[in-house]
Amino acid sequence: ESAEKGGYEHYMLKEIHEQPDVLARTLEGRLRPDTGDVDLGGEGWEDSDLANVERVQVVACGTALHAGYIARYMIEGLAGVPVDIDFASEFRYRDPRLVKNTMALAISQSGETADTLAALRLARDLGARPTSICNVVGSTVMRESSATLLTEAGPEIGVASTKAFVAQVVAAYLLALRMGRANGRISREQGREMIEELKRLRARMETVLAPEAVEHIRELADRHRNVKGFFFLGRGINFPIALEGALKLKEISYMHAEGYPAGEMKHGPIALIEPDLTTVVVNSIGGVSEKSRSNIEQVKARGGRVIAVGSDRQSHEIAEEAVVVPESSEWLSPVLNVIPLQLLAYHIADLRGCDIDKPRNLAKSVTVE
Ligand code: G6P
Repeated sequence: ESAEKGGYEHYMLKEIHEQPDVLARTLEGRLRPDTGDVDLGGEGWEDSDLANVERVQVVACGTALHAGYIARYMIEGLAGVPVDIDFASEFRYRDPRLVKNTMALAISQSGETADTLAALRLARDLGARPTSICNVVGSTVMRESSATLLTEAGPEIGVASTKAFVAQVVAAYLLALRMGRANGRISREQGREMIEELKRLRARMETVLAPEAVEHIRELADRHRNVKGFFFLGRGINFPIALEGALKLKEISYMHAEGYPAGEMKHGPIALIEPDLTTVVVNSIGGVSEKSRSNIEQVKARGGRVIAVGSDRQSHEIAEEAVVVPESSEWLSPVLNVIPLQLLAYHIADLRGCDIDKPRNLAKSVTVE
């Protein structure tokens, strides 16, 4: 087993470190810089399949749902197509209404999650075209989709999902690019620039995973491992990263953590702020970075401790502690920002002596309700 862990203490740590390779595999053979486009592989992703999509309905659970929230920002912002997203377990039991020419998009690592599958089937029965972003060839979700974008993360053993998430976010970016090229919202030049940004991503991921960067996170984990709880805040495309950071910490360290859109903080959660609650603010350079900076000030003014994570240098100056993440296009910043949060959860759990690869009460794949 230790050989399978490739010298790492846990599968989760190995899988976190595999993420640059997962990115490379997910992009392999798909980029078409000459036309500023991508080839998603398989059938069902042609112009004729995508140009008339009027709405996308995402359904997923857990970490895959967080990737779905990011997909919403990308597909709306880049391809100009409206996106709805719902917990698969909610979608299937309400009475959802879909507009014509809806593309249903299930996002699932395993392709076997019961609620996700049921939600995809329901969407299909309501007239939507079923598609998926999935990591397992031949899985039920894939077999029931008329088009699947494979994530190529390889088998994920750690119960807490890491590399599959990064692959899902990259896949969502590719899908947004393909849809935008198909419907004409993205020009050839813009497509080329989006591809260039993808090519720069690997080296940036490696910076976040460099030994000194990881050591810095372990030190942070050590300083914060006994606080009463954690609060994760983010805005825009990094709001789902706040959700994911909180979920990772809950799953493997059993600490109480909440993820919130930073702008909602004042509508309740701000009452929780005190020195014994650590707030992690995810903030990269982009359209909402100034807004998130003011949230850091607000937490500080109420005696809270803040760790700023991201490429926004000014946030690092205001916050008590910081994790510097290389700058990238705002669209791809979630891929970089999630890595320090995965590592933070990992090291806190490790320092607290938790069973990281098999956390209590959790299953890798929830195939029954
Ligand atoms: C379980 C796992 C999560 C995962 C979720 C959805 O809860 O513990 O890590 O995000 O299922 O799984 P899927 O295979 O559909 O992505």
